[in-house]
Amino acid sequence: MDWNKAQELQQMIGRCPRVRLAYLPTPIEKSDRLTKQLGGIELYFKREDRTGIALGGSKGRQCEFRLGPGVKQNADTLITGGSLCPNNLSLQTAAAARMLGWEVYLLFRTSIDQKEIIYQGNRLLEWLMGSHMELHDVELSAQPTIMENLAEQLRAEGRTPYVTGLTDYYLGGIAYANCLLEICKQLKEASLEIDYLVLPSAGPTAAGLYVAASYLDVDFQILAVNSGYYEVPEVPHVTIDQITYIANQTAEHLQLGVQLDRSRIDTYTFEKKEVTEERVNVMRKVASLEGILLDPIYTGATMEVLFKYAKEGKLKPGDKVLFMHTGGTASLFSYSEKILTAGNNEC
Ligand SMILES: Cc1ncc(COP(=O)(O)O)c(C=O)c1O
Repeated sequence: MDWNKAQELQQMIGRCPRVRLAYLPTPIEKSDRLTKQLGGIELYFKREDRTGIALGGSKGRQCEFRLGPGVKQNADTLITGGSLCPNNLSLQTAAAARMLGWEVYLLFRTSIDQKEIIYQGNRLLEWLMGSHMELHDVELSAQPTIMENLAEQLRAEGRTPYVTGLTDYYLGGIAYANCLLEICKQLKEASLEIDYLVLPSAGPTAAGLYVAASYLDVDFQILAVNSGYYEVPEVPHVTIDQITYIANQTAEHLQLGVQLDRSRIDTYTFEKKEVTEERVNVMRKVASLEGILLDPIYTGATMEVLFKYAKEGKLKPGDKVLFMHTGGTASLFSYSEKILTAGNNEC
């Protein structure tokens, strides 16, 4: 790890528009009981679920850089969009916008999972915040234009809208390049050397981490787990392609002068977004041993892979793993029936 380069990276990130909203740095905590459960694989949590915007999560950290340009433009209205599936991109973005006193427009695209808005989990909380919500039955590629059209309409009404999401993922990447710096400092202070950083992502979160890890030449590997989620209009639905695309956009915007080396990218992709019995058992194990709540799609899927790798011997006793808890708590309520149906009573 090159600390001179870390300083350079910090300076480049420091030049990007940012609005301070989240509680940072988030802590790194050791999990003794899960370490025992995993046969001696030393497990640590990076608590991104404690960023403090709405119910917390990685998108809160990203909002600082995603909304920063809007603050610079004196925006008064947020427009963002994405799939209707019950994740938390829009929840933290809406909460961040409300913290800035902005109006909130959330444009959802119907998904395979859902055809209509169900006011539970993230949607319930977004509704509580008075968000204007629209539902569009269109392809992902059509969504940026729909957001731009609404922006035009609001401008004509005298508002100053700021559009984010789908085409500016590199801003989230910048936030996570910054997070990698934060992690490296925390590890140094704790005299801790990890072997793996594991997280749920097929997009900006992993992209930013990979860019910074590659630029600084860190000694640990990063594994990004994707449970079947694709939201980048410009790129085919391949996890590694999405991450590479956003990573290179991030590097370009930071003017790092590097291209991401694809050989550094390690992904695990689930075929289907499914709440399986195995997944729920892993979630219950973590919740009952540590009081840590994982969601069934992102953090739960990632922990399932970690348990699987431990069982198969791909991770070995003594390996030090930092698990990034990216949040997702509100979606637990949207999946409550599936969780209860899939879960058994043994824990
Ligand atoms: C809880 C949680 N973790 C991880 C992710 C994936 O992050 P990325 O956008 O980097 O793929 C999401 C996406 O919505 C999420 O809701």
